[in-house]
Amino acid sequence: MRTYLVTGGAGFIGSNYIHYMFRKYDNEIRIINVDVLTYAGNLENLKDIENRENYTFVRADITDKEAIAKIFAENEIDRVVHFAAESHVDRSIKNPEVFVKTNVLGTAVMLNCAKAAWELPDGSFKEGKKFLHVSTDEVYGSLEDDGTYFYETTPYAPHSPYSASKASSDMLVKAYIDTYHFPANITNCSNNYGPYQFPEKLIPLIINNALHGKKLPVYGDGKNVRDWLYVDDHAKAIDMVQENGRLGETYNVGGHNEKQNIEIINIIIDTLLEMLPADDPRRALVSKDLITYVEDRKGHDRRYAIAPDKIKAEIGWEPETMFKEGIKKTIAWYFEHEDWMKNVTSGDYQKYYEDMYQNR
Ligand code: NAD
Ligand code: DAU
Repeated sequence: MRTYLVTGGAGFIGSNYIHYMFRKYDNEIRIINVDVLTYAGNLENLKDIENRENYTFVRADITDKEAIAKIFAENEIDRVVHFAAESHVDRSIKNPEVFVKTNVLGTAVMLNCAKAAWELPDGSFKEGKKFLHVSTDEVYGSLEDDGTYFYETTPYAPHSPYSASKASSDMLVKAYIDTYHFPANITNCSNNYGPYQFPEKLIPLIINNALHGKKLPVYGDGKNVRDWLYVDDHAKAIDMVQENGRLGETYNVGGHNEKQNIEIINIIIDTLLEMLPADDPRRALVSKDLITYVEDRKGHDRRYAIAPDKIKAEIGWEPETMFKEGIKKTIAWYFEHEDWMKNVTSGDYQKYYEDMYQNR
């Protein structure tokens, strides 16, 4: 049975990936989820799988070498899937240091511990071991509204402290590949949306604010473009790259779904009004009058757009969930999980670890 070490599995994409993997492989794999549970880590995201015999949660910081080395020493890890990171651009503008610590140093610790556990005396690596580093399209910088795309060969040009820290972490992975022939891949993905996304990010923030009649903040002119991908499609891409990608290669992952922020906000409002039952009191709160233009994000990248040609040609992956369908599924999930949102916005979700794990 293959054993996965997933970092950051209590966050948005990591928890969706764990669900995806158990749906796909069921009892054929074992997953160890290591997460320090920052504000972005929420074990409620995993409550329906937490009692599986083939799942283990370890609360640890990826910058803590002893803790990470111990996991490798106690388990024969076959796959590392490295999600753990500080992920929010606005937070990185206010407090860059933690981004450098977690994203750069944390990745160095993960690489070093995996290398130490997997390396043979002759400098080669144990058969079949693989490390996948989950990265972002933001490392490529910003595009104009001119129909160009980010390719794997596009030079790195990060602008925010977040993207600079992710670019540094990618460079470290590339350095391990080049120097040691370390068995790794990098995926650079566009903006994800879907269940369990923390409501600091555009889509869940707009859904939640609209349902509560709160202002919908639009940075700048609202015409910045992002390329949105449903999170399950990202999970599938990660698995396909890890199993079928060429070792040492980078693969761009994107939704072929470019939209201006203001378009996204209008689609969310229209979809909420379409989906809310006629007698639901929240209908009266949801309105385009809530849209409020606010000061722009500092250094705001204008446009991201991924060309997922390589992953399609080499591995056969392409996005499956059209935005119209994905946004409906996402809104339906937030309707069905009002308590999740309440616990997140009240801070109660942070008690889940104490209740479920500390007291065992
Ligand atoms: P997230 O912020 O929702 O989750 C991050 C997780 O990492 C949390 O569970 C947090 O507790 C954990 N974590 C943070 N610091 C840690 C540390 N020092 N030690 C252990 N765990 C720690 O992030 P996300 O949106 O799920 O993104 C996951 C990964 O995917 C990140 O590497 C991000 O750069 C990348 N990515 C995100 C997107 C996106 O649209 N969200 C797109 C492309 C790539
Ligand atoms: O492109 C991939 C990246 O996507 C990931 O690497 C990051 O981890 C993830 O956070 C995301 O970064 P963005 O900055 O693109 O996502 P965010 O949801 O913060 O913002 C999306 C766009 O919406 C961006 O142009 C800023 C704008 N925005 C955002 C917020 C929170 C607003 O106009 N108003 C808002 O309130």
